[in-house]
Order: sequence, then C-alpha cells, then structure tokens
Amino acid sequence: MSIAFDNWTEPALKDVMIGKFITFEGGDGAGKTTQIKRLAASLTATKRTVTTTREPGGTPTAEAIRRLLLSGFAEPLGVEGEAILFAAARSDHIEGVIRPALNRGDWVLCDRFSDSTTVYQGGIGGADEKLLRALDRVAIGETRPDLTLILDIPASIGLARVHDRLVGLNEKPDRFEAEDLARHEERRQAFLDIAAKEPGRCVVIDAARTEDDVAAAIWNAVSSRLLGEAAA
Ligand code: TYD
Repeated sequence: MSIAFDNWTEPALKDVMIGKFITFEGGDGAGKTTQIKRLAASLTATKRTVTTTREPGGTPTAEAIRRLLLSGFAEPLGVEGEAILFAAARSDHIEGVIRPALNRGDWVLCDRFSDSTTVYQGGIGGADEKLLRALDRVAIGETRPDLTLILDIPASIGLARVHDRLVGLNEKPDRFEAEDLARHEERRQAFLDIAAKEPGRCVVIDAARTEDDVAAAIWNAVSSRLLGEAAA
C-alpha cells in the first residue's frame, strides 16, 4: 500500500491525516445511494472531506466495464468472466480514485465493493472461490474497508422499491435486478453471513425503516466505530 505517512509512529496524527474507507453493501433497492448522500452530508457538516463513489464504476474505464456488465452484454462470458471484469473495474477504481482520496485524508464512501463480488459471483453465483480470492488480492491489495455497512432488507421490499424507481424513470431492470426473488433472498442471507463472520468490519443496518431512522442508525455506527464517540 502506498499511503503517505505509513511509517509514522504517532497514532493521533496518523488518525487525523489518513482518510477512512466505508463501503455500503446490501441487496438491490436497499437504499444505499440515498444513505450515502445522507452520510456524506453529515460528515461534511463535521468539516471532513468526503469522496463518494460506486462500483462497478468510479473511473471512465470502470464505468465502461459497468455498462458491459449491467446491460448483460458480458453475460455470455460466464460468471467467472464477469468476475474478472468486476475485478478489472475495481483495480482501476482503487488506483484512480479510492487510494488517492485516502492519501489526501478524505473519507471515501463507496456504493458496493468486494463483498458484492463474494455474494453475487461467489456462493450461489457459482464462481470458483479461489479465483475470487486471487482476483481480490490483485485488485485491491491492502486497501480494505475500515467499516462496511450492510443495509439489510427483505428482498420483496427491495425489489418493489427498484420496480417503483424504474417505472418512474421509464427504465428496465438491469442484468442482476431482473433475477428472481428467491435468488435475491439468498443474496440477502449471504450478506448477513459475511457480517456474522467479520463483526469487526461489518455492521448490519435494518434498512426497512424510514429514511431518517436508517440515516440515524448509520450515523451511530460510524460515530461509535470510527469517530470514537459513544452511540447516541
Ligand atoms: P447498481 O445499479 O449500482 O445496483 P444498486 O443500486 O442496487 O447498488 O448495479 C450494480 C449491480 O451490479 C448490482 O445488481 C450488483 C451487481 N454487482 C455484482 O454482481 N458484483 C460486484 O462485484 C458489484 C460491485 C456489483
């Protein structure tokens, strides 16, 4: 990892200078995009500099790969071919956006990251776990999230929200949104399994509540885990 101040031994100064990396994960329609905006506003109000970004995407090259993946154009490559594309996009995103922002001391809020590959391409997705681990190592190296917020919602509610949003925009569901309810429920469980395995990194947020309640739960998690403040 090439973060400046890496060799500094003064912990207080290091904590002030190096940014924090927060990823948002969860099923389709969980409200990640809305909540990232809310958290960005709250952090900015405390005079922190925030970079918000998303996966797949975040750089021009990664956004081009996103279009291939979400349109279904890359589907004939198979799940492992798609996983390679997600990893290529992630690598460019880390190099071009995430690491430079962390090096500047920004708080980076990212809509989906490696856990989405674990859930969508791994497990029930069927991609070889060893391949996914190798891709992850190459794509992200040591740049791992300080905190992952898993927005948990019953798949039926998440998909109904996606449906309403798409009708409003007059758009069709993407390659992944179009899959059936049972598959979305399995993914929900897979995200909860990750949270259970890595409680030090992950916090599960009940996302079926009002937008304000979810925003408050997220702020509590960020305050207690990263700002060293007791949760309200
Ligand atoms: P997006 O519209 O960003 O979905 P959402 O708003 O629900 O986050 O589309 C991203 C889609 O790509 C989403 O369905 C999950 C999928 N995906 C993967 O399958 N693997 C991955 O590694 C990532 C980052 C996303």
